[in-house]
Formats: sequence, structure tokens, C-alpha cells
Amino acid sequence: MSTSPRPRVLMCPPTHFSVDYDINPWMTGNRDQADRGRAQRQWENLHALVADAADVELIPHVPGLPDMVFTANAGLVYRDLAVPSRFRHAERAGEEPHFTQWFAGARFAVDLLDGIEFEGAGDALLDRAAPRLWFGYGHRSDARAAAALQERLGLEVVPLRLVDPRFYHLDTCLCPLSGGELLYFPAAFDETAQAAIAARVPEDKRIAVSEEDALAFACNAVNLDNVVILNRASAALRQALAAHGYRVRETPLDEFLKAGGSAKCLTLRLDEPGLN
Ligand code: ARG
Repeated sequence: MSTSPRPRVLMCPPTHFSVDYDINPWMTGNRDQADRGRAQRQWENLHALVADAADVELIPHVPGLPDMVFTANAGLVYRDLAVPSRFRHAERAGEEPHFTQWFAGARFAVDLLDGIEFEGAGDALLDRAAPRLWFGYGHRSDARAAAALQERLGLEVVPLRLVDPRFYHLDTCLCPLSGGELLYFPAAFDETAQAAIAARVPEDKRIAVSEEDALAFACNAVNLDNVVILNRASAALRQALAAHGYRVRETPLDEFLKAGGSAKCLTLRLDEPGLN
């Protein structure tokens, strides 16, 4: 019998979810196009899958902040430390005090990055097998956050420049898996970033996805132990993940894709580093 505690995850029910503005290419042309009832059902299905393997905590959705459902952007959690996001876009800045207050109430030590744009676990992902933080910049987070995070966390921080506007957050194109593999879409990164990944992760642990899978947000996956929860995966990707011992759970999240988010963005792991 396993004695390890269950993972903890923060989610926000999509009570006031909509697409009200346009801050990433996925939102373009989708203003007012989200179906809230359908979004609610899709979120509930995701919640049920996550709750099978983790204890889920909820933060209430604040009206007027439609993207607050994407709790990955609340901040970066490491042990008892929470580094809240400082959003690049004014449209999301109103979420900051709500998430910061939630972290404080949940007894995290809150440490803000002064004057540096940083979008939390959207752009900062802990490796599952090594003491290392993968950090994406180029669209949302400021490259200068890398040094600030290295200092606070005392981990190797690997900055990765993102070059495709469709993959504007690191968690849209890279997912560290529990066995030390990286699920990722190489073309979303510049050459230096691809080399930085290759220098640290052996080839048999690099699971590169096709553009088709990347556009279906397959890298935006929630990995809990050997389960990988995602919007959609091709047969080839399901096979590749199975070969590494993972069980894939697909759950449609197309209402949230209209805002540029999917499974992983709708969750924030609270028990980090969460090395499996
Ligand atoms: N509309 C949101 C934005 O552009 C989506 C955020 C998705 N979150 C994520 N971690 N990728 O900020």
C-alpha cells in the first residue's frame, strides 16, 4: 500500500468564463463565442479525472476576470513558497490580488518578483526527475525572471525562448512527465532552447509531438503519477505515451481552447516539487 500523500491541485470553477478580449492568437475571432454551459460540463469532466488522483482545492471565480479559470497562471509554487504572477496584459492583472490572497490564506510564503512580468506555472515548470525549473519567455514572462527565480528557488533554471505566438506559454508546448520524460513540440522553441533541452534530457526521454497534436494542446497535459490527462492525442502520441508506461485520458476542452487554454492551464499543482 502506498503511503505517499495524494497530490494537491488548485482549480477555479468556470462560473464567469467567457472570451471577452484578445491577448493570444487563439482568442482572435472568438469574442463572446464560448458556451458557458458546455464549458462548465467540460470543466466538470476534467475535475472528475483530476480528483481521481489528487485532492482538488477550489478558488471561487471572480466576475469580470474570465481567464481566472486558468489557475496555472496564479503563480509558481515551490515547497512552501508561492511566487504570484505579474501579468503582461492589463486584462489579467485584476487576478493578481485574488490569487495572492489565496496563497497567503493557504499558508504559502508569498514572494513577488518586483516589476518583472512573470506568468507563473504557465511559464515555469519543474522537472519531475531532476532539481530543475524549465522557464519559458519571449511572449509573456520577462527573461529577467530566470535569475530572480534561480535565486529564490536555488534550482537550476533553464531559460527557453518561445518563438511561435500560438505557443505563448511554456505549458502550451512542454510538459515534464513523472518518469523524467519531456513531452514537447520542438518547433515552438528557438535553436538554443532546443539544444538546452537536448543537453539535459536523453533522446529516449524526449517525446516530441507533431504539429497536429501540439495544436490540439496535447502538451498542455496534467500528469499525475502514470496518468496523462489531455484534450486530445493522436493514435501515434497515445502509443508513444503508452510505450513509456503512461495511461492517456482524453477529455474534450474545446470551449477553453477558444481562450487559448486546456487541461494543464486549468490546474495548478500545489505540492511541488512533486517528484514522483
Ligand atoms: N486567455 C488566457 C491568456 O491568454 C489563457 C491562459 C492559458 N494558460 C496557460 N497556462 N497556458 O492568458
